[in-house]
Amino acid sequence: SSSKVIFSGIQPTGVPHLGNYLGALQQWVKLQKEADRDTQLLYSIVDLHAITVPQDRAYLRQCKREMLATLLAIGLDPDRSTIFYQSSVPAHSELMWILSCGASMGYLSRMTQWKSKLDLADNANPLDQSSKSKLKLGLFSYPVLQAADILVHRSTHVPVGHDQSQHLEFARECANGFNHVHGKVLSAPETLLSPGKRVMSLDRPQYKMSKSHPNPKSRILLTDSREEIRKKLRVAVTDSIEGASYDPVQRPGVSNLIEIAFNLQNQSEASSPEDYARDLEGVSLKALKDHVTEAVDQHIGPIRERFESIIKGSGRELEDAAELGSQKANASANATMKLVKDAVGF
Ligand code: ADP
Ligand code: NA
Repeated sequence: SSSKVIFSGIQPTGVPHLGNYLGALQQWVKLQKEADRDTQLLYSIVDLHAITVPQDRAYLRQCKREMLATLLAIGLDPDRSTIFYQSSVPAHSELMWILSCGASMGYLSRMTQWKSKLDLADNANPLDQSSKSKLKLGLFSYPVLQAADILVHRSTHVPVGHDQSQHLEFARECANGFNHVHGKVLSAPETLLSPGKRVMSLDRPQYKMSKSHPNPKSRILLTDSREEIRKKLRVAVTDSIEGASYDPVQRPGVSNLIEIAFNLQNQSEASSPEDYARDLEGVSLKALKDHVTEAVDQHIGPIRERFESIIKGSGRELEDAAELGSQKANASANATMKLVKDAVGF
């Protein structure tokens, strides 16, 4: 059939920032709005991926809850979309094992994220070869888990950023490899949806906004109050040119602020950041920051309020959503696993 299955995941690593929102989560909501009846949407909070680095038990739990609350707060509907914790669907791990028995070590070692981890270990301690051998197996093999995430739901469309396209290619390889040996059971995802917008760091506009940057003022969280937004924007790095204008090469800081406002504005008719910037041409940088504060607060204010009411509520809304998500995701995954296990000979 021509029905679509859209799958995407996000790690439970703290309340998302504007980069996560404009780069990924906003698109999830858009896909839900545009989806027709034949389209299945699956959004996973990938807690199994989170433990590829050490996690504190209580903090991991908190992050999972907060991520689920965020997904509900931005407008994902648990009835329409399947929103679930990855660890609540054992088939993800089960298919990972089966796929890893056919996955090549060579292919995995050539993946850029693994290579950068190796280089990092090497640079940290060039004389000590054991720093490399202490790297964890899960960090090496997590692309196989990602492949399982996608394939276990027979996903046809996987929205991922460009930094993840190698992993999607690997998932295709896993599907084709499995089918070659066991018969055509898995379906390789066909289309890579275009990545969302890139948001740059407020204090170093040449780098992307990221949760791993030590300066908390470099990013705006979806739960930031208007006052926090204002403070962070007030110290955002711009330049010494007077007046606002859009020029990403010469004025990365100013242009990033304009793009943020453009991408969050609900009403403006502007079709591009250039177009949007026309109304702001020449206004003082202070006035630009006030404008951006307003645009950000108007957009994320309602998200923040929904988030808070969900988090401060009885917990029932989160439990119900998780339970429903788990049921639907298990049904979807188990249907695939039945075919997979039969094909393998279990
Ligand atoms: P971080 O860089 O903060 O660690 P993740 O790597 O967990 O964020 O990314 C989660 C999702 O958010 C991914 O889909 C990623 O492409 C997207 N994303 C992260 N940072 C940005 C950004 N600055 N601009 C656009 N998208 C981003
Ligand atoms: Na990251």
